[in-house]
Amino acid sequence: MEAPLGRNHGQPKSAKLILTLFFLTVVFLTIIPLFYHDPLFLLEDLSPKPSPTTSRQPQILSPIKISEGEDCDIFSGEWVPNHNAPYYTNTTCWAIHEHQNCMKYGRPDTEFMKWNGNLMGVEYPIDVSHTTEEDFKRWRYTTYNFTMAYFSTTHLVKSEERDANGPTHTGLFNLYLDESDERWAAHIEEFDYLIISDGHWFDRPSVFYENHQIVGCHYCLIDNVVDLTKFYGYRKAFRTTFRTINSLENFKGVTILRTFAPSHFENGVWNEGGNCVRTKPFRSNQTTLGGDSMEFYMIQIEEFQTAQREGRRKGKRYRLMDTTQASLLRPDGHPSRYGHWPHENVTLYNDCVHWCLPGPLILGMISCFKY
Ligand SMILES: *[C@@H]1O[C@H](CO)[C@@H](O)[C@H](O)[C@H]1NC(C)=O
Ligand SMILES: *[C@@H]1O[C@H](CO)[C@@H](O)[C@H](O)[C@H]1NC(C)=O
Ligand SMILES: *[C@@H]1O[C@H](CO)[C@@H](O)[C@H](O)[C@H]1NC(C)=O
Ligand SMILES: *[C@@H]1O[C@H](CO)[C@@H](O)[C@H](O)[C@H]1NC(C)=O
Repeated sequence: MEAPLGRNHGQPKSAKLILTLFFLTVVFLTIIPLFYHDPLFLLEDLSPKPSPTTSRQPQILSPIKISEGEDCDIFSGEWVPNHNAPYYTNTTCWAIHEHQNCMKYGRPDTEFMKWNGNLMGVEYPIDVSHTTEEDFKRWRYTTYNFTMAYFSTTHLVKSEERDANGPTHTGLFNLYLDESDERWAAHIEEFDYLIISDGHWFDRPSVFYENHQIVGCHYCLIDNVVDLTKFYGYRKAFRTTFRTINSLENFKGVTILRTFAPSHFENGVWNEGGNCVRTKPFRSNQTTLGGDSMEFYMIQIEEFQTAQREGRRKGKRYRLMDTTQASLLRPDGHPSRYGHWPHENVTLYNDCVHWCLPGPLILGMISCFKY
């Protein structure tokens, strides 16, 4: 795959990319790759430190590389200041979602936008979407003969809102854990690359269905329905997703899992006053992955490895885009209270989940992809 803006990549190759995301903003990152000044620097610190509160170890990080035959690991290291940034603001980029339009809602500092690498001449794509729905867009990069599409799905598997309110006033969902969401799954075979991600939607209360029967739930508070925890639903959703991919005879592309992006609430959880007020990235020795984030991350990795093993026999190819550690280091990247006007009564008052920047990270990575 070529980066949308290739640097020393020689002749553009043809490639298509499909993105599946649980919310949409992340996509815009893909047109803003960044280049680290010194890739070798990034090799110095390969694994996130395991949390002291868990005995599970992310052992798999080093062996999995995003590209073959290249010493380029862009998934760990430090953020470096870049004084040429930002490359766009809320007035020059139309695609910023309201709840992430931090400048508009008064975020005073701008430092958080200045930690990318060098941006080399962007090619702006042409909108070639098949529908007018914002959740299913396609863009074409003509220079590279490259089409990028994204498909929005909340839970990767088929889901529906059962109750707009629910125990935490964030909706109660029915998740059909053994059925992929066809809105994206039906299109996989059209593409050469498939990038999947999912995370925080699984925090919301949900009722789990398998084989059309209720098998349990996550914090649904319904009589006689056993609470299997959100981790159960998360694992099953990824398992079903990977099984779907492995079962597609005609899909010859590469599946890339973009790993979990932790939230950064401090001094309380999301609905108890927690907030994210830092204005600089962490150094890698200032924080460790732990708690629920570690659990989500490990589940992804475990299911990914199983899928990779099972897919290998069928010629399926997998890659890990392991951005968890890099996003863990960006507590400064979230809207906090600048995702809405101060007088607005919104559910996520301090938003430490979404990103003001399109998910700071994703596409540092692109510079490392070469197929
Ligand atoms: C663009 O890519 C398609 C397939 O992905 C290929 O058939 C076509 O020849 C390519 N066009 C150019 C101009 O390279
Ligand atoms: C952009 O942000 C500024 C504040 O920095 C605000 O005055 C303006 O209304 C915003 N514009 C848009 C289009 O969001
Ligand atoms: C973290 O590392 C930096 C530089 O590598 C060092 O200056 C700092 O003292 C370290 N902090 C801690 C808490 O170890
Ligand atoms: C915000 O909305 C919730 C639920 O709609 C309500 O219970 C609460 O009183 C409201 N808070 C304010 C400050 O209006």
